Amino acid sequence: MSKKRAFLFDLDGVLVSTEHNHFLAWQRCAHSLDIPFTEKENELLKGFSRVDSLKKILELGNKSISGEKFEAFLISKNDFYLESIQDLNQGNLLPGVLDLLTQAKERGVRLGVGSSSKNANFILEKLQIREFFEVVIDGNGVSYPKPHPEVFLNGAKALGVEPANCLVFEDAESGIAAAQAGGFTAVGVGNPNIANIADIYMNDLTEFRVEQYA
Ligand code: BG6
Ligand code: MG
Repeated sequence: MSKKRAFLFDLDGVLVSTEHNHFLAWQRCAHSLDIPFTEKENELLKGFSRVDSLKKILELGNKSISGEKFEAFLISKNDFYLESIQDLNQGNLLPGVLDLLTQAKERGVRLGVGSSSKNANFILEKLQIREFFEVVIDGNGVSYPKPHPEVFLNGAKALGVEPANCLVFEDAESGIAAAQAGGFTAVGVGNPNIANIADIYMNDLTEFRVEQYA
Protein backbone atom coordinates (compact mmCIF):
# COMPACT_ATOMS: atom_id res chain seq x y z
CA MET A 1 0.00 0.00 0.00
CA SER A 2 1.29 3.48 -0.90
CA LYS A 3 2.14 5.78 2.02
CA LYS A 4 -0.57 8.24 3.08
CA ARG A 5 -0.33 11.99 3.72
CA ALA A 6 -3.42 12.38 5.90
CA PHE A 7 -5.52 10.49 8.45
CA LEU A 8 -9.22 11.19 9.02
CA PHE A 9 -10.80 9.86 12.19
CA ASP A 10 -14.37 9.09 13.07
CA LEU A 11 -15.00 10.19 16.67
CA ASP A 12 -17.50 8.00 18.55
CA GLY A 13 -16.11 4.48 18.88
CA VAL A 14 -12.73 5.29 17.31
CA LEU A 15 -11.21 8.06 19.44
CA VAL A 16 -13.51 7.74 22.45
CA SER A 17 -15.83 5.15 23.96
CA THR A 18 -19.00 7.26 23.65
CA GLU A 19 -20.84 4.70 21.48
CA HIS A 20 -22.12 3.05 24.67
CA ASN A 21 -23.51 6.39 25.88
CA HIS A 22 -25.32 6.86 22.56
CA PHE A 23 -26.70 3.32 22.94
CA LEU A 24 -28.05 3.93 26.44
CA ALA A 25 -29.64 7.22 25.40
CA TRP A 26 -31.34 5.65 22.36
CA GLN A 27 -32.41 2.63 24.40
CA ARG A 28 -34.21 4.95 26.82
CA CYS A 29 -36.07 6.62 23.91
CA ALA A 30 -36.92 3.28 22.28
CA HIS A 31 -38.21 1.78 25.52
CA SER A 32 -40.42 4.79 26.17
CA LEU A 33 -41.97 4.01 22.77
CA ASP A 34 -42.28 0.30 23.70
CA ILE A 35 -39.71 -0.63 21.06
CA PRO A 36 -37.27 -3.42 22.06
CA PHE A 37 -33.72 -2.12 21.72
CA THR A 38 -30.51 -4.02 22.48
CA GLU A 39 -26.87 -3.76 21.35
CA LYS A 40 -27.95 -5.73 18.26
CA GLU A 41 -30.40 -3.05 17.11
CA ASN A 42 -27.93 -0.33 18.13
CA GLU A 43 -25.41 -1.73 15.66
CA LEU A 44 -27.77 -0.63 12.84
CA LEU A 45 -27.56 2.97 14.08
CA LYS A 46 -23.82 3.38 14.54
CA GLY A 47 -22.40 6.24 12.51
CA PHE A 48 -25.79 7.55 11.40
CA SER A 49 -26.93 11.07 12.25
CA ARG A 50 -29.23 11.79 15.20
CA VAL A 51 -32.24 12.27 12.91
CA ASP A 52 -31.56 9.12 10.87
CA SER A 53 -31.02 7.12 14.08
CA LEU A 54 -34.46 8.05 15.42
CA LYS A 55 -36.03 7.24 12.03
CA LYS A 56 -34.40 3.81 12.16
CA ILE A 57 -35.69 3.17 15.71
CA LEU A 58 -39.23 4.05 14.59
CA GLU A 59 -38.84 1.74 11.58
CA LEU A 60 -37.67 -1.07 13.86
CA GLY A 61 -40.77 -0.64 16.00
CA ASN A 62 -43.02 -0.02 13.00
CA LYS A 63 -44.20 3.20 14.68
CA SER A 64 -44.86 6.71 13.50
CA ILE A 65 -45.01 9.83 15.67
CA SER A 66 -45.85 13.48 15.05
CA GLY A 67 -43.16 15.93 13.92
CA GLU A 68 -43.45 17.64 17.27
CA LYS A 69 -42.86 14.43 19.20
CA PHE A 70 -39.99 13.54 16.88
CA GLU A 71 -38.25 16.84 17.71
CA ALA A 72 -38.92 16.33 21.43
CA PHE A 73 -37.27 12.87 21.30
CA LEU A 74 -34.20 14.33 19.56
CA ILE A 75 -33.85 16.91 22.31
CA SER A 76 -34.39 14.51 25.20
CA LYS A 77 -31.99 11.94 23.69
CA ASN A 78 -29.29 14.57 23.37
CA ASP A 79 -29.91 15.97 26.87
CA PHE A 80 -29.60 12.49 28.36
CA TYR A 81 -26.50 11.76 26.26
CA LEU A 82 -24.77 15.03 27.24
CA GLU A 83 -25.59 14.44 30.89
CA SER A 84 -24.01 10.98 30.67
CA ILE A 85 -20.74 12.36 29.23
CA GLN A 86 -20.36 15.37 31.48
CA ASP A 87 -17.31 13.88 33.24
CA LEU A 88 -15.61 12.83 29.98
CA ASN A 89 -11.86 13.49 30.05
CA GLN A 90 -8.60 12.37 28.46
CA GLY A 91 -8.81 9.08 30.39
CA ASN A 92 -11.75 8.12 28.17
CA LEU A 93 -9.65 8.07 25.01
CA LEU A 94 -9.61 4.59 23.50
CA PRO A 95 -6.36 2.56 23.72
CA GLY A 96 -3.58 3.75 21.42
CA VAL A 97 -5.24 7.02 20.39
CA LEU A 98 -2.87 9.47 22.07
CA ASP A 99 0.28 7.66 20.87
CA LEU A 100 -1.06 7.41 17.32
CA LEU A 101 -1.98 11.11 17.16
CA THR A 102 1.36 12.15 18.67
CA GLN A 103 3.44 9.97 16.34
CA ALA A 104 1.43 10.92 13.25
CA LYS A 105 1.83 14.61 14.05
CA GLU A 106 5.60 14.18 14.54
CA ARG A 107 5.78 12.52 11.13
CA GLY A 108 3.97 15.41 9.45
CA VAL A 109 0.74 13.52 8.75
CA ARG A 110 -2.22 15.90 8.30
CA LEU A 111 -4.98 15.03 10.77
CA GLY A 112 -8.73 15.56 10.66
CA VAL A 113 -12.00 14.36 12.18
CA GLY A 114 -15.04 13.28 10.15
CA SER A 115 -17.96 12.62 12.49
CA SER A 116 -21.74 12.47 12.22
CA SER A 117 -22.01 13.96 15.69
CA LYS A 118 -23.09 17.53 16.24
CA ASN A 119 -21.27 17.32 19.59
CA ALA A 120 -17.87 16.56 18.04
CA ASN A 121 -16.04 19.80 18.85
CA PHE A 122 -17.38 19.85 22.41
CA ILE A 123 -16.18 16.26 22.97
CA LEU A 124 -12.75 16.87 21.39
CA GLU A 125 -12.26 19.82 23.75
CA LYS A 126 -13.23 17.71 26.76
CA LEU A 127 -10.75 15.04 25.67
CA GLN A 128 -8.06 17.73 25.22
CA ILE A 129 -7.15 16.53 21.73
CA ARG A 130 -8.79 19.25 19.61
CA GLU A 131 -5.41 20.83 18.78
CA PHE A 132 -4.17 17.69 16.99
CA PHE A 133 -6.66 18.25 14.18
CA GLU A 134 -6.38 20.80 11.39
CA VAL A 135 -9.99 20.20 10.45
CA VAL A 136 -13.12 18.88 12.16
CA ILE A 137 -16.07 18.11 9.90
CA ASP A 138 -19.08 17.18 12.02
CA GLY A 139 -22.81 16.66 11.80
CA ASN A 140 -23.35 20.41 11.52
CA GLY A 141 -21.26 20.66 8.38
CA VAL A 142 -22.73 18.13 5.94
CA SER A 143 -25.80 17.92 3.74
CA TYR A 144 -25.60 14.15 3.32
CA PRO A 145 -24.77 12.06 6.40
CA LYS A 146 -22.83 8.77 6.41
CA PRO A 147 -22.95 6.37 4.56
CA HIS A 148 -22.62 9.22 2.04
CA PRO A 149 -18.91 10.10 1.68
CA GLU A 150 -19.42 13.88 2.00
CA VAL A 151 -18.03 14.18 5.54
CA PHE A 152 -14.72 12.56 4.55
CA LEU A 153 -14.54 14.24 1.12
CA ASN A 154 -14.94 17.64 2.83
CA GLY A 155 -12.24 16.67 5.31
CA ALA A 156 -9.78 15.65 2.61
CA LYS A 157 -10.54 18.78 0.60
CA ALA A 158 -9.96 21.02 3.62
CA LEU A 159 -6.60 19.31 4.15
CA GLY A 160 -5.76 19.60 0.45
CA VAL A 161 -5.18 15.84 0.15
CA GLU A 162 -6.67 13.40 -2.39
CA PRO A 163 -8.77 10.55 -0.91
CA ALA A 164 -6.29 8.04 -2.36
CA ASN A 165 -3.61 9.62 -0.12
CA CYS A 166 -5.72 9.41 2.99
CA LEU A 167 -6.66 6.77 5.58
CA VAL A 168 -10.06 6.84 7.29
CA PHE A 169 -10.45 5.23 10.73
CA GLU A 170 -13.96 3.94 11.44
CA ASP A 171 -15.86 1.63 13.81
CA ALA A 172 -19.23 1.58 12.00
CA GLU A 173 -20.45 -0.14 8.87
CA SER A 174 -21.98 3.13 7.63
CA GLY A 175 -18.61 4.85 8.10
CA ILE A 176 -16.63 2.17 6.28
CA ALA A 177 -19.14 2.45 3.41
CA ALA A 178 -18.76 6.25 3.41
CA ALA A 179 -14.97 6.02 3.30
CA GLN A 180 -14.89 3.43 0.53
CA ALA A 181 -17.49 5.31 -1.54
CA GLY A 182 -15.21 8.37 -1.34
CA GLY A 183 -12.16 6.45 -2.57
CA PHE A 184 -10.39 6.32 0.81
CA THR A 185 -8.66 3.33 2.40
CA ALA A 186 -10.83 2.34 5.37
CA VAL A 187 -9.24 1.16 8.60
CA GLY A 188 -11.85 -0.65 10.71
CA VAL A 189 -11.29 -0.46 14.48
CA GLY A 190 -12.74 -2.27 17.48
CA ASN A 191 -15.89 -3.75 15.97
CA PRO A 192 -15.70 -7.38 14.75
CA ASN A 193 -18.84 -6.78 12.64
CA ILE A 194 -16.80 -4.68 10.21
CA ALA A 195 -13.67 -6.85 10.10
CA ASN A 196 -14.64 -8.32 6.73
CA ILE A 197 -15.62 -5.10 5.00
CA ALA A 198 -12.80 -2.79 6.15
CA ASP A 199 -9.66 -2.61 3.97
CA ILE A 200 -7.53 -3.05 7.11
CA TYR A 201 -8.86 -4.17 10.49
CA MET A 202 -7.52 -3.91 14.04
CA ASN A 203 -8.96 -4.62 17.48
CA ASP A 204 -7.68 -1.31 18.78
CA LEU A 205 -5.30 1.44 17.74
CA THR A 206 -2.37 0.07 19.78
CA GLU A 207 -1.98 -2.33 16.81
CA PHE A 208 -1.52 0.53 14.33
CA ARG A 209 2.05 1.34 13.23
CA VAL A 210 2.23 4.88 11.88
CA GLU A 211 5.51 4.26 10.04
CA GLN A 212 3.90 1.44 8.05
CA TYR A 213 1.26 3.73 6.53
CA ALA A 214 2.76 7.24 6.44
C1 BG6 B 1 -22.13 9.22 15.43
C2 BG6 B 1 -22.47 8.06 16.34
O1 BG6 B 1 -20.75 9.49 15.55
O2 BG6 B 1 -22.86 10.39 15.78
C3 BG6 B 1 -23.97 7.86 16.42
O3 BG6 B 1 -21.88 6.90 15.83
C4 BG6 B 1 -24.67 9.17 16.78
O4 BG6 B 1 -24.24 6.87 17.36
C5 BG6 B 1 -24.27 10.24 15.77
O5 BG6 B 1 -26.07 9.00 16.77
C6 BG6 B 1 -24.91 11.58 16.04
O6 BG6 B 1 -24.39 12.11 17.23
P1 BG6 B 1 -24.96 13.38 17.99
O7 BG6 B 1 -23.92 13.61 19.06
O8 BG6 B 1 -25.02 14.51 17.01
O9 BG6 B 1 -26.30 13.01 18.49
MG1 MG C 1 -18.20 5.73 15.15
